[in-house]
Amino acid sequence: MPGFELIGEEERAALNELMDEGGVLFAHGFGPMRKRYHVRELEAAFRDKLGANDALCVSSGTAAIKVALKSLGVTYGDEVITQCFNFIATVEAIVDCGATPVIAGSDETLNMDPTQLEGLITKKTKAIMPVHMLGVPARMNEIKAIAKKYKLPVIEDACEAVGAKYNGQYAGTLGDAGVFSFDFGKTITTGEGGLVILQNAEMAEKSRWYHDHGHMNLEGRPRGLDRAGITGFNYRMSELNAVVGKAQLAKLDYILEESGKRFKVLCDGVTVPAFKKRAIPEEAEPAFDTVIFEVKDKNLRDSTIALLSDMGFGTKNLPDAMNWHCSVFWDHMGFDTRTPAAMETLALLERQIAIPVVLGRSVEDYAALADALNALAD
Ligand SMILES: Cc1ncc(COP(=O)(O)O)c(C=O)c1O
Repeated sequence: MPGFELIGEEERAALNELMDEGGVLFAHGFGPMRKRYHVRELEAAFRDKLGANDALCVSSGTAAIKVALKSLGVTYGDEVITQCFNFIATVEAIVDCGATPVIAGSDETLNMDPTQLEGLITKKTKAIMPVHMLGVPARMNEIKAIAKKYKLPVIEDACEAVGAKYNGQYAGTLGDAGVFSFDFGKTITTGEGGLVILQNAEMAEKSRWYHDHGHMNLEGRPRGLDRAGITGFNYRMSELNAVVGKAQLAKLDYILEESGKRFKVLCDGVTVPAFKKRAIPEEAEPAFDTVIFEVKDKNLRDSTIALLSDMGFGTKNLPDAMNWHCSVFWDHMGFDTRTPAAMETLALLERQIAIPVVLGRSVEDYAALADALNALAD
């Protein structure tokens, strides 16, 4: 979330520099008119920062999911397993490929419950897509073990977990592919934008083709005489977004460090049992952008939401944007939304309150919030 709070001189200077360099906003060609290829530079910077094999910038996180699915050939009649607590984009991308979303419920981490996975795998399953919701990685060891047993690829939706880690490795680099969003609400932002982390060379090639109308960028051929390797689409990122992205990426470690202080003060400071902290897998280090408590008592839940509003923190998606984050509400997409696992997850989600971690509020503000929550439950 804090990326937008830190938009400032660095982003402004990067945009001005782009204009001074020739003002080419397209990520391909126009060599004589430009000095650099910023989209390619952002991809390399992300690849190196995250320790990944390959990275591809695209126009949004939603596009990143679609590109990853298409690079696997996901199509009509296929099934992709994802989770109930989610953002609608993940399921939209599956449906847009002509495939059917199959929904796993959540465990106490609020992410994909790996114990449900084997029961959901069928002959039609093409991929497993865990989603690291609100900054906390899913139980990837267990998910990957099941994927390996059934020889299924894993696409991590790490849109809400830029900078989070699992087993010391960045979220998004643990599966065959990982996707990030840089929309305006994310840890770092390019306004709109996304990234596909590609660990598998065949998926990387198909992703590059697909996001650019199928262009194979064959060596020695001008773009106009290039060949198409796949039925593609346009999900390219522009140079404008890329220069902002490079400035934001340089701020990522600072954002994580400062968010971590606020996250810790709030988590450690709330000591009353009426507020149950979200479980975090022991292998995981969150991106620290949200603190979630389960509050079973309805009256206490209501008074907590009122207190968060009074103190100017508000809530983040739980409970204020449930319709967009719980698959039970997505009947319009024509799949079975009301499975027992999904209904159970809805009940679990209805007891949660998610508090945004922002840098515009001080560490002391979060300590004061912890005190106020303890007092409220007394
Ligand atoms: C988990 C998740 N997946 C996908 C997306 C889609 O990203 P974008 O808004 O960049 O299309 C989001 C954005 O909110 C998200 O939270």
